[in-house]
Amino acid sequence: MNSRLDLSFVVSYRHQIFFTENAFAVKNTILKELVGVAKVLPIIDAGLVATSPAVVSELIEYAKAHQIKLTRAPIILTGGEECKKDQTVVNAVLAAIEEDAICRHSYVLVIGGGALLDAAGFASSIAHRGVRLIRMPSTTLSQADAGVGVKNGINAFQKKNFTGTFSPPYAVINDFAFLKSLSPKNLRDGLVEAVKVALLKDPEFFKSLEKDSRELAAGNLTLISACIRRSAELHALHITQGGDPFELGSSRPLDLGHWVAHKCETLSKYRLSHGEAVAIGLAVDVLCARELGLFSKSESERVIDLLVRLGFQLYTPELEINHGDSLMQGLEEFREHLGGQLTLILPTVIGQSTHVHSLSSEVVKKVTAELGHRFSSSCAVLS
Ligand SMILES: NC(=O)c1ccc[n+]([C@@H]2O[C@H](COP(=O)([O-])OP(=O)(O)OC[C@H]3O[C@@H](n4cnc5c(N)ncnc54)[C@H](O)[C@@H]3O)[C@@H](O)[C@H]2O)c1
Ligand SMILES: [Zn+2]
Repeated sequence: MNSRLDLSFVVSYRHQIFFTENAFAVKNTILKELVGVAKVLPIIDAGLVATSPAVVSELIEYAKAHQIKLTRAPIILTGGEECKKDQTVVNAVLAAIEEDAICRHSYVLVIGGGALLDAAGFASSIAHRGVRLIRMPSTTLSQADAGVGVKNGINAFQKKNFTGTFSPPYAVINDFAFLKSLSPKNLRDGLVEAVKVALLKDPEFFKSLEKDSRELAAGNLTLISACIRRSAELHALHITQGGDPFELGSSRPLDLGHWVAHKCETLSKYRLSHGEAVAIGLAVDVLCARELGLFSKSESERVIDLLVRLGFQLYTPELEINHGDSLMQGLEEFREHLGGQLTLILPTVIGQSTHVHSLSSEVVKKVTAELGHRFSSSCAVLS
């Protein structure tokens, strides 16, 4: 005799994101209030330590002043895409969680760029089936996007984020003081996720990016911080109110340009950073939207102009490897990562978008040829 229990249940999450400056100044109590008397395993990105060595002692002094129970001196781990290339960093974090007896009521505190947050966050989400993670993103891109999301992961089988989990962090602390040590390239990278989310959701924000483009490109930290604040807010609002935080459907409504970006990152063996690749991906997608008659020529040129004014290069030879066929594989990989029907998001006007379920190689190749024609010489000069 067959029988069936068909039950449903709801789990609610809280998504706490703090914006501050100098989180380790003793008078700043955000971190202290979050962790209380629980144990904290601290992990810091080696790239941040290389340019701001004081961050290590500042955290230790802060912990002493507030009687925070750091389980050890901060572990300094390789950051950048290198830390997602295999299990090394994930295993190091797992081993530290085990050695320091971090339980589900203790915290892993990770300070770093999006790549280290992804790798350490993945380890934290599988140790004991999930221990509490506090992220302190230290790059523009991780503060504007990666750090405020609910995804973790590392790369495998030449595919971005193949191994990973959905696991909301316990809290995120965006400390704008970290941005002071970023290279001009890393400082610029995060602006592209702001352009993306403004283009999809907020025409006024897009206009403000256009207005401030010169100062943003010049590295004005006040304007960059404001831009990160709005970008992080739009990403977090989408996750918490968009109806599909764990991407159970077939659409990733914030992933404009990302099918191209992920493929170009992999094809370039990560010479291209995520931010640089997303800029190229946005250029491809807006021109495809124009070709499909979805998006006007004048608005597509506004997007291209903004990206150029912010200092992004909009062409890379990876677009045309194997006459563009390698890039086209990225479309199927993007579909497979989500499952279901191919669903791309493309802009219709600045601030609004629509879904499309196919994109022909003729259109993509036409557009990449156009980008080559318009931008390959500046790419050669700049690189
Ligand atoms: N989980 C998500 O939702 C999500 C979203 C977007 C992007 N990502 C991922 O984020 C990664 C990109 O992150 P990113 O742009 O932050 O780059 P990154 O993490 O690769 O960092 C870039 C470089 O900056 C160094 N660094 C970090 N902080 C620094 C500081 N304050 N000063 C000087 N150097 C510093 C790092 O060591 C690294 O060498 C990609 O792997 C991408 O796939 C994840
Ligand atoms: Zn991205």
